[in-house]
Amino acid sequence: MSGPRWEARADLVVVGTGVAGLTAALRAHSLGLRVLVLTKAAAEDGNTRWAQGGVAVVLPGEHDPGDSVDKHVADTLVAGAGLCDEDAVRAIIADGPAAVTRLRELGAVFDPAPGGRLARTREGGHSAFRVVHAGGDATGAEVERALLAATRDGRVPVLENHVAVQAVRTAGGAVAGLLVLDSAGVPGVLTAPAVLLATGGLGQLYQATSNPEVATGDGLALALRAGAPVADVEFVQFHPTVLYTGQGARGRCPLVTEAVRGEGAVLVDATGARVMTGVHPLADLAPRDVVAAAITRHMAFERGGIDDHVFLDATHLDGATFRTRFPTVHAACLAAGVDPVTEPIPVAPAAHFACGGLVSDVDGRTAVDGLYAAGEVASTGLHGANRLASNSLLEGLVVGTRAAEAVAADLACGKLADTRLAVVADLPVAPVAERDSLQRVMSRYAAIGREAEGLAVVGSVLDVSAVDRPLETRELVEDAALTLVGRALIAAAAARTESRGCHVRTDFPVRDDAVWRRGLIVRLNPSGQPVLARPTALRGAA
Ligand code: SIN
Repeated sequence: MSGPRWEARADLVVVGTGVAGLTAALRAHSLGLRVLVLTKAAAEDGNTRWAQGGVAVVLPGEHDPGDSVDKHVADTLVAGAGLCDEDAVRAIIADGPAAVTRLRELGAVFDPAPGGRLARTREGGHSAFRVVHAGGDATGAEVERALLAATRDGRVPVLENHVAVQAVRTAGGAVAGLLVLDSAGVPGVLTAPAVLLATGGLGQLYQATSNPEVATGDGLALALRAGAPVADVEFVQFHPTVLYTGQGARGRCPLVTEAVRGEGAVLVDATGARVMTGVHPLADLAPRDVVAAAITRHMAFERGGIDDHVFLDATHLDGATFRTRFPTVHAACLAAGVDPVTEPIPVAPAAHFACGGLVSDVDGRTAVDGLYAAGEVASTGLHGANRLASNSLLEGLVVGTRAAEAVAADLACGKLADTRLAVVADLPVAPVAERDSLQRVMSRYAAIGREAEGLAVVGSVLDVSAVDRPLETRELVEDAALTLVGRALIAAAAARTESRGCHVRTDFPVRDDAVWRRGLIVRLNPSGQPVLARPTALRGAA
């Protein structure tokens, strides 16, 4: 077992180089904090650059007639299926216009509409055209480009290929830094009174996902081991339209943005029959959980259950419009041998977004002193049981900024730990399951359509196959995170005996507001097992 062999110091360590992490780092730097940013891969390799649709925001003087922040809030609450925290929703959405202005001041360029305003599109669950976008369908790439350029211009140091292994804490439990593997795999310590997790999601728990390889739930696992509660982890959003490239598709699969449906495309099966007719008043633009579940049901029960994908028919758009508006989707389709201008695009649902996460308030504070969270890893109460489309870049921008301000305020009032009291340990040992088996059982039993027996199978596979290993490589850190987060997800999914939002139980198909209109909190027991816990002060609504 090896102890740390190097040390660096900062006021704030930010883990993750996506929209939330870089926004927080830039804001903290502007407030005079010494910031270090850490990523286990290259700075560009996170999930943000894959975001297509855009940023949902109601800009003053630039919105549909009658649209308002209140309507955006209402749409978010409906999509969240009764589990959003309304105060958090309102606070984050109200801050959206200022966040987009700051991003544009940093250099991000959004697509213009004729007349000098910003172009706006619509996605599932939105009652108005309020999603601003960049590069047609490359919004995440533009946001990431602008934030990374500003980070480099501002000389905010980014440690690439450095893996966060475990929080370093004081005897009293406050976070005082991170145990890290450097790019050569040598353990060291980043000492800081504040650590902000902006590590993104957990799509790699499943065989097919829109998420990149880095989305292995690391931040959630690190937070659980640091004593923090997580909430709503059973709500994994499946994107309805990920490009179907054959039965054996594994890893990151290209997204076909919901904005294609916003521009009039419709879902059909192999006979040309509409999938969403009669399912929801908004039809193809119903909230994402509704569309993904309808496709899954259609594949299972129509045409004798022979289909493993459906089609997105966008052939009403002419070639020039499609290529200009959706260049990323167009290129992905052509690479897969599909011409989306002349033929329907084969699509199927795939794991896309963790609606739950590390319990935090809208300023990124968690239940553990010195530990902050922003972006997909956090559970602020914005998403509830199903995230509204394009609310995630928005949340990263807003909460990233607010979290940096919270760190500065907490440092200024002496609330954070004295890092000289940090107790630095050796690299930890944790249960690690084999990734392929984990992904296979999660995809089979814990995707859309879960039931008690299948969830128990996942639990048994994890119990039988997990072996205790020292977390001395990136791969082991990731596999241990997937193992722990998989267990937490299964514990919550088995307990929630109803169907709500992205959590679809075939043995409990009905939403049960009398019993289940509350979030489920999971934390680790003294032996390191994820168990259901009582609500925390941060998420007291239960
Ligand atoms: C999409 O463009 O369909 C995805 C955007 C999102 O996940 O909000």
